Amino acid sequence: MLVTTKEMLLKAQKEKYAVPAFNIHNLETISVVVETAAELKSPVILAGTPGTIGYAGGEYLVAIAKAAAKKYNLPIALHLDHFEDIEEIKKYLDLGFTSAMIDASKENFQNNIKKVKEVVDYAHEKGAVVEAELGKLGGIEDDLIVDEKDAMYTDPNSAKEFVERTGIDSLAVAIGTAHGLYKGELKLDFQRLSEIRSKVKVPLVLHGASDVPINLVRKAISLGITKVNIATDLKIPFAEAVKSYFRENPEANDPRKYMTPGKEAMKAIVEAKIKMCGSENKA
Ligand code: 13P
Repeated sequence: MLVTTKEMLLKAQKEKYAVPAFNIHNLETISVVVETAAELKSPVILAGTPGTIGYAGGEYLVAIAKAAAKKYNLPIALHLDHFEDIEEIKKYLDLGFTSAMIDASKENFQNNIKKVKEVVDYAHEKGAVVEAELGKLGGIEDDLIVDEKDAMYTDPNSAKEFVERTGIDSLAVAIGTAHGLYKGELKLDFQRLSEIRSKVKVPLVLHGASDVPINLVRKAISLGITKVNIATDLKIPFAEAVKSYFRENPEANDPRKYMTPGKEAMKAIVEAKIKMCGSENKA
């Protein structure tokens, strides 16, 4: 059975580690993430953006994730990542997703609260949970493109009000990470993170964790991050390994053969990220 992110994140918050949320796209990526998490006995969150769910199909993703949870007897949450459309969120929660991020970070503060609250009321009624973002991350995630100059850090006092008025279960914070790879020097605002942590009770989420040095992610976890989102760092090695296979085997056409090096490359990263988060043996 799929679980929500609630218990796994509260446990992580208490014991000071983080649960990794991996962006998945298809059977191959789900099976690599879940198999590796099972080997390391780590709780895990499978996250799908609107683009991914449009590509793979919500029904298929729910069925695969359920089958994986049963096969490995592991706490697995199936999460909607960066959804902006409330009706879509409702539709996928009805289908069996257990957790949703409503990203209304483009809206002003009052409208952000209003939209998020609507999703929270719906999700809680269904036994699902909600993550929302205050502030705005730069970079590229799917069709969501935010120029670095439009990125906005999370204000600790507004974060407190936001969490209290919306009733969200976890809060995504903007403290300097961005989606995708970093062009310039990466600087994280740990002071801000500590302040948010001291004012906000719910688990905190770090988006854009690819390409961030391990020591910085670990420091963020030590200061209160309990969910770490990873997409780009999985996609690149998978694609590189498949490209390299085709360079060496230009006549190849068997997906069982050319997908395998991609899965192996991805597996090594999933393992490293679980260890980085400290979620090994926490399932
Ligand atoms: P990265 O692609 O930078 O890992 O970001 C992932 C993310 O935050 C998904 O919501």
